[in-house]
Amino acid sequence: MQDIIRQLQEKRELARAGGGKKRIDAQHQKGKLTARERLEVLLDPDSFEESDMFVEHRSSDFGMGAQKIPGDGVVTGYGTINGRLVFVFSQDFTVFGGALSEAHAEKICKIMDHAMKVGAPVIGLNDSGGARIQEGVASLAGYAEVFQRNVLASGVVPQISLIMGPCAGGAVYSPAMTDFIFMVRDTSYMFVTGPEVTRTVTHESVTAEELGGALTHTARSGVADRAFANDIEALLELRRFLGFLPANNREKPPTLAGTDSPDREEPSLNSLIPAAPNRPYDMMELVEKVVDDGEFFELSPGWAGNIITGFGRMEGGTVGIVANQPMVLAGCLDIDSSRKAARFVRFCDCFNIPIVTFVDVPGFLPGTAQEYGGIIKHGAKLLFAYAECTVPKVTVITRKAYGGAYDVMSSKHLRGDVNYAWPTAEIAVMGPKGAVEIIFRHDASDEAKIAERTEEYRQKFANPFVAAHRGFIDEVIRPQATRRRICRSLAMLRNKKLDNPWRKHANIPL
Ligand code: HXC
Repeated sequence: MQDIIRQLQEKRELARAGGGKKRIDAQHQKGKLTARERLEVLLDPDSFEESDMFVEHRSSDFGMGAQKIPGDGVVTGYGTINGRLVFVFSQDFTVFGGALSEAHAEKICKIMDHAMKVGAPVIGLNDSGGARIQEGVASLAGYAEVFQRNVLASGVVPQISLIMGPCAGGAVYSPAMTDFIFMVRDTSYMFVTGPEVTRTVTHESVTAEELGGALTHTARSGVADRAFANDIEALLELRRFLGFLPANNREKPPTLAGTDSPDREEPSLNSLIPAAPNRPYDMMELVEKVVDDGEFFELSPGWAGNIITGFGRMEGGTVGIVANQPMVLAGCLDIDSSRKAARFVRFCDCFNIPIVTFVDVPGFLPGTAQEYGGIIKHGAKLLFAYAECTVPKVTVITRKAYGGAYDVMSSKHLRGDVNYAWPTAEIAVMGPKGAVEIIFRHDASDEAKIAERTEEYRQKFANPFVAAHRGFIDEVIRPQATRRRICRSLAMLRNKKLDNPWRKHANIPL
């Protein structure tokens, strides 16, 4: 018996050694942890239960029959993060470059199937050279099996991808279909076609970093939601991030007992809005002063900065925050910000996370770049997302809410549950100057008259009361009381029930 157990231990040691010392050293030299070291940082101590440690590939072509490494390039299983169950796969670059074989894919599919059955998040740590070239179509089939599960799991359990090395070719489409993509700076990249093919086909000369590094995807393409300095920081932040999410679509998000009183007032907010209507201010100050303990996990901070999205807590419960940012493009909605916020709103709606929206929006960004780029369809994504979602929706208009953007930003008319305005709110079809220039065009040469009309328009419409008279705004509130008002609204809405009509699925303008 002792012999058999010793043999088992030896087999385990062999599997744990992955691609061997030389390749592990090479991984470390690149500043990367190994697949197993990463899981140690990610999961609670001693919580990891591994499966399929002895799985091997079944290929014999190109000398592969003689090269079998137990585990076949991916470590899979489950464990806990702050005591909560998660399923994980961690690709092992030291084994065939983490390339995905048929057997490797089966391991990932197995934990995804488990996660769906028990209702727990799936976290993928990606570090792979892509399809196992020696296996040909069997590897492509493996990818497609993973893709299919990504789609079936979407909206059922949260799926998070952390890109910690190469992720290229069709392989990028599995992370792309998960809910969030995080990357590690300098050591990870994602692209559909790499620098060499790009050079041959388009004659563009770019490095892998320029084409698909963390900076590219968090500041230019918007493909990734966050980038971190190194493996450790990324894994620790992923632990913190998970604390905001429910385990599945049937659960409410977790609540964290805290000490920040829901009645806390913030008198400094009374002077947040500058006297001049076109002066920007930092909307992040409002977000951080309203959420519990100022803790806010921002998503895509470096992309589409004209809208802020992220998670915070109110009275301990997770909320999704969407807020126009007047510091960037005056807070206008454009293609990128509409896409960014729409996807976020839909995530919150899938996973029962109430949405708090702070509005200061002068409208949609004008210009040919926007129109030719399809702002009509992209703006409609955000409108659609807000209109479709059934989770509690609390809205606070701080300053401008003009035109179509007023409607879009979680207005009463899109089933906003509680809609507040600060006394500084201006809810109108457009700003006073633009409005007067159109409706009094024939008086354009008479400056005094235009000034008088502008003031008249300002008095009449540049305030929250016209909307409040109609009940489109439930209450005009003092800025300092914003947190208390939101907390009470969310408590009132805790058992909200609202269903959309039965259908196979809606047809959001993609
Ligand atoms: C099999 C692979 C591999 C692959 C790397 N390796 N990629 N083995 N299939 N796709 C192996 C290498 O042979 C090497 O083995 C080890 O992994 C480490 O690779 P290196 O090249 O030494 O590492 P590095 O210099 O860091 O370069 C990493 C890399 C490069 C940039 C990822 O290996 C590379 O370009 N690989 C090919 C990428 C690729 O074209 N993949 C197919 C993409 S198409 P040894 O034994 O020497 O350690 C695709 C389609 C998916 O993925 C479709 C889904 C629908």
